[in-house]
Amino acid sequence: MQITPFRIEEYMGKHEFRARYLLSSSDAESVRIEEILSLEAGAHDAFLKHWCGYTESPGAPWLREVLAKIYKTIDARQVVVVSAAEEAIFLFYHALLTPGDHAIVESPCYESALTLPKSTGASVSEWRRKPENGWAHDVAELEALIRPNTRALYINTPHNPTGLLMAPEIFRRVLELAAKHNIYVFSDEVYRELEHDPASRLPAACDLYDRAFSLASVSKSYGLPGLRLAWIASHDKEFLERIISLKHYTTICSSAPSEFLTALAFRHRQRFIDRNLEIVLRNLPLLTAFFARHTDIFEWTPPDAATIGFARFKPQQDVHDWCESLVRDAGVLLLPGTVYDEPRHIRFGYGRKNMPESLAQFEAYLKSASVARSA
Ligand SMILES: Cc1ncc(COP(=O)(O)O)c(C=O)c1O
Repeated sequence: MQITPFRIEEYMGKHEFRARYLLSSSDAESVRIEEILSLEAGAHDAFLKHWCGYTESPGAPWLREVLAKIYKTIDARQVVVVSAAEEAIFLFYHALLTPGDHAIVESPCYESALTLPKSTGASVSEWRRKPENGWAHDVAELEALIRPNTRALYINTPHNPTGLLMAPEIFRRVLELAAKHNIYVFSDEVYRELEHDPASRLPAACDLYDRAFSLASVSKSYGLPGLRLAWIASHDKEFLERIISLKHYTTICSSAPSEFLTALAFRHRQRFIDRNLEIVLRNLPLLTAFFARHTDIFEWTPPDAATIGFARFKPQQDVHDWCESLVRDAGVLLLPGTVYDEPRHIRFGYGRKNMPESLAQFEAYLKSASVARSA
């Protein structure tokens, strides 16, 4: 398998565990295990007694039962648990595509959504959204990309890196188009349930189209990425079986302690959403005010979901070098848009409790003479 370096993860991996002020993270604030265990009486003892053997490849039935509840038309048998969304992306493309196939990927995107279909030998086209038209979705452009051998379409809403939701009518048209051409849709919904206005939540794709695979994860909206647990939901039982067959070559089954903790957390998932939404809605106005004070450096497209947003960086400088200097000199971590092939943008994250402090450090850095001069 030929695969290119995962630039987003390499950049984050290089700095995330050393930088003091994380201002670009895509996951909401996490919690300690003790907080999850305190959600139900007896959970602490039950966790200590939990069996650490293998679990079922599709995921423990009692876990799938809880996870299926976030969908309208899906039951536990139509959910396959995996070890993080990253594994699901790998499994989906490799279970589906062969070198004669074609895939379409909404971009800019989380990088593996684009590199993994290429790694199967299939040809891949980007359905690229552009900053100059407000990151709009051009459905006519998508339609023009479809070929007779198009097998897969990856979409992502709420979207990494813009934090924007797909408009509901576009979402439906995309699924209709896929149905018309018999295309499998991989709908990356890992930021779902963290819409800034919960009324704007889109339906899960798997509830609307039989060949859609909704990807969800505890990593982002719920703030539990250390559990490394995610799942795929779909009505297409036959394709889910193919995913399980391939999973026998990756992880076989998920982590037993993570399954326990996820089921427990998910029985109370609204608490996680409420808490994380409160953090996001407290942080966002600070970020909006910050960008209003720095229109000479940034142009901000206000996000309407998730924990992230993408700002245009106006100075004619290399954003990668600029972000490297920032983390080196001020300990503030931002993600340069070069890792998304968007060299004029920077990703900001506002899902962490200490975001106001990180933002203050960043602003102090911007005010320093050298930065002001170069801007
Ligand atoms: C859109 C998107 N999909 C998938 C993932 C992978 O998430 P996980 O931590 O569950 O592997 C990420 C992580 O940043 C993401 O942003």
